[in-house]
Amino acid sequence: MEVSEAIFTRRSIRRYSNKNVENEKVDKIIKAGMYAPSAVNKQPWHFIIFKDSGTFRKIIEVHKNASMLENASVAILVCFDENLQHDDGYGLLDCSAATQNMLLMAHNLGIGSCWIGIFPRENRMKSMSEIFNLPYNIIPLAIVSLGYPAEQKVTPDRYKEDRIHYENW
Ligand SMILES: Cc1cc2nc3c(=O)[nH]c(=O)nc-3n(C[C@H](O)[C@H](O)[C@H](O)COP(=O)(O)O)c2cc1C
Repeated sequence: MEVSEAIFTRRSIRRYSNKNVENEKVDKIIKAGMYAPSAVNKQPWHFIIFKDSGTFRKIIEVHKNASMLENASVAILVCFDENLQHDDGYGLLDCSAATQNMLLMAHNLGIGSCWIGIFPRENRMKSMSEIFNLPYNIIPLAIVSLGYPAEQKVTPDRYKEDRIHYENW
């Protein structure tokens, strides 16, 4: 798939078929995350791959917008290490870039995905730290849910000329 096609046709997919996502595809998705740009090339990310339905249920209980996990094949918690990031705030930016790379690679592989927001909601971050036993320096940013798509979405028109400015505001 061309990069431009991936960018324009990727959509958040929240309904998945029963078909499991192959481990090789999950590996490629993680690898895409690791090829994101990061400040001073610090690559402060960590990824927790999980499939356990008990873990899915725990997350759904504490996160009102994560019900798509009910039928996901696998999910990935994207975190950053505060001790590895370039400076305060950069881990968040680096891991956001990694997460976007992962969504695009998933789409490229025919896998539906959705960014489930954790950061900056304190209650969600605390819940993820408890559920996944995260060390104090590991900050959860997002969950990427993955599964073969059971819904199709059209590409919306989002081009807004009035958001573009030339030379000055
Ligand atoms: C920071 C962030 C947090 C998000 N959190 C959630 C979430 O918790 N649950 C969810 O269903 N979608 C979540 N989304 C997905 C957005 O709802 C989605 O990207 C947006 O509606 C645009 O749709 P599209 O991804 O199909 O282009 C999140 C996206 C971002 C970037």
